[in-house]
Amino acid sequence: MKHLIDPMDLTVEEIDQLIELGSKILENKEKYQEVCRHKSLATLFFEPSTRTRLSFEAAMLELGGNVLGFSSANSSSAQKGESVSDTVRTVSNYCDIIAMRHPKEGAPLVASRKIDVPLINAGDGGHYHPTQTLTDLMTIYQEKGHFDNLTVGMCGDLKFGRTVHSLIKAMSRYENVRFVMISPEELKLPEYIVKDVFEKKNIQFTEVGTMEEVMPELDILYMTRVQKERFFNEQDYIRLKDSFILDPEKLVNAKKDLCIMHPLPRVNEISTRVDDDPRACYFKQVRYGKFIRMALIMTMLGVKLNED
Ligand code: CP
Repeated sequence: MKHLIDPMDLTVEEIDQLIELGSKILENKEKYQEVCRHKSLATLFFEPSTRTRLSFEAAMLELGGNVLGFSSANSSSAQKGESVSDTVRTVSNYCDIIAMRHPKEGAPLVASRKIDVPLINAGDGGHYHPTQTLTDLMTIYQEKGHFDNLTVGMCGDLKFGRTVHSLIKAMSRYENVRFVMISPEELKLPEYIVKDVFEKKNIQFTEVGTMEEVMPELDILYMTRVQKERFFNEQDYIRLKDSFILDPEKLVNAKKDLCIMHPLPRVNEISTRVDDDPRACYFKQVRYGKFIRMALIMTMLGVKLNED
C-alpha cells in the first residue's frame, strides 16, 4: 500500500487485516508504544479538523513516533502562493508518512504523484475520507461483531456527505446489507451512487422522508451534519440545516442494540439528550478512529510487532 486516496483502494482482506490489527492495539496498547520510534508523521491540513488531525497525531505519538505539520493553509507558505504539490514535496523530505486534508477534490492524489513517502488522504472536499470509512467499519465491527445481514439507515445530508458515499460503497461489499436513506428531497443520495452501487450490485435500498417510520428496522443509524461549507447559497443551508434532529422520543421504537453513529462534528442533528443512551456510539467511534489510524500508520510504514 503506497498511498491511500480512496477507501475503495483497499480490498476487503486489507480492511479485515487493518481492523484485526486495530483491535489488537486497542486491547494491548502498551505493546505497541515503541514500534514507530524514529519515524515521523506530517499532518498537512489545508482545511479545519479536530478529530482527524489530532487522532493521527495521537496515533503516531502513542506508537512512539514524532509528529510535525500545520493545521491551516494560513500558517504555511500556501499563503504566499506555493502550490500544494510543492508544499507536499518539500515536507516529504522531513517525514516518513504524510496525512493531508485539502478542500479541493483530487488535491491529495495529485500531490502523491511527486513524492516517495506514503500519503494518506485525510479528506478532499466532497470526495473521499478513507480513514473515516475505516473508523466507521472498525466501529461497526466492534459494536456488532460482523458486517453481514445489517440494516443501515443513513440520515441527513446524503448529497454532499463524503462519509456516507464511502461507507455505502464499503458496506456494499458484504452479504445481505440493506440500506435506508433518510433525507430531505434536496439532499438525497446522488443518482450515480444509486446506479453504480445499489442497482449494479442489486442491493436493496429504500428512500424515506422521516426516521420514525423506519426506526424499528435499523441495526445502524448513521447521522450526518448538513455541511454549511458545501452550500453555494446560505438561504438553502438555513432552510435545510435542521431537517432531521434525533432525540430520545424518536428512539422509543428503536432496537435495543441499535448502534447510533456520526462522523462528527455535530451541530443540531443529535440532541445532547441522546448522549447518555447506551446506543449512542459516536464518541466510541472517535476512540476507535485513533486505533484504526495506528494500525494504518504501522501497515503503511511496514512496521510490525514480531508476534503479529
Ligand atoms: N470526522 C471528521 O473528519 O472530523 P474532523 O473534521 O474534526 O476531522
